[in-house]
Amino acid sequence: MFGKKILGTILCAAIAFTALTGCAGGGTKKVGISMPTQDLQRWNQDGAYMKEKFEAAGYEVDLQYAGNKADTQLSQVENMINSGCKVLIIAAIESSSLGTALDKAAKKKIPVIAYDRLIMDNENVDYYATFDNGLVGKLQGEYVRDALNLDSTSGPYNIEFTAGDPGDNNATFFFNGAMEVLKPYIDAGKLVCVSGQTDFSSVATAEWNTANAQSRAENIIGTYYADKQIDAWLCSNDSTAQGVANALEKLYTGAYPVVTGQDCDKVSVKNMINGKQTMSIFKDTRTLAARTVTMVNQILNNETVEVNDTSTYNNNKKVVPTFLCDPVSVDLSNYQKVLIDSGYYTQADIDNA
Ligand code: GAL
Repeated sequence: MFGKKILGTILCAAIAFTALTGCAGGGTKKVGISMPTQDLQRWNQDGAYMKEKFEAAGYEVDLQYAGNKADTQLSQVENMINSGCKVLIIAAIESSSLGTALDKAAKKKIPVIAYDRLIMDNENVDYYATFDNGLVGKLQGEYVRDALNLDSTSGPYNIEFTAGDPGDNNATFFFNGAMEVLKPYIDAGKLVCVSGQTDFSSVATAEWNTANAQSRAENIIGTYYADKQIDAWLCSNDSTAQGVANALEKLYTGAYPVVTGQDCDKVSVKNMINGKQTMSIFKDTRTLAARTVTMVNQILNNETVEVNDTSTYNNNKKVVPTFLCDPVSVDLSNYQKVLIDSGYYTQADIDNA
């Protein structure tokens, strides 16, 4: 009787411990994955692919979305640390607001991987897995340059800019990458930004939010383009491109401009087919998820962690060793091959978007 009671107590303690640590199955390693929001298609996909790949590799996964709220993300990450996660994978909402959690993780020797968004101003960021962010912007800028034949026609052409969230370190990489290509044409007078808004802080979009991008675009169209043509609208990603497309549809009557984007969200691919967006950048979340699983395996097995950039991503405390995956420029000419034939989407996914 007494023996049974002790056994029961031990069992209960073990169950409670398992619940606390998440280490079910005799030492299954738990991975904490903190994603910014479910509002944007891509993060749902990133989260789902990683969960699938980590579970297939034998890990337990704690996947959390933070509703684009930095304080929610902070407490979710702290819970992951307290509940026994052995490694953290974080796509930060605000690049500098996770410091206290990262310090706690470091004390517990929990490695941190910044996932597609660099975490700034903290030395406890061990690795960064991402796409070549500067190249994303460069590909967008080159697309505009080539679509408008800037090297072989005299113009001038009118262009407007819509960039990403100022709290996301990537946003400046995208904008600067595009500007590196386009600024010489602006300086030469071949490209004219009629609103005059060409600096990052004037063209940034809080939270990469479609409605925010739309209302700024409506203002610009209403104020500057009543009787002028817009030849190109450089948008840093798809959620902002969708806002600009909505504004153009509502207020603009001239010839449709070249509109760039990034992520190949289903809605934006559909917009490409319907002529409301011209291009997007494909970042294959399957590749990034697989790379992240490889990184985690290498870290936890004490193997050399494969990286391919050890100079670009300085987070103000250190240069974070990075693995850069390749972004691909997509438009009507190759979306079928890149997105459908590769099995990323079905045609029905696009049709029903
Ligand atoms: C960035 C990311 C982009 C885009 C954006 C909006 O950090 O690199 O691909 O999706 O966030 O969430």
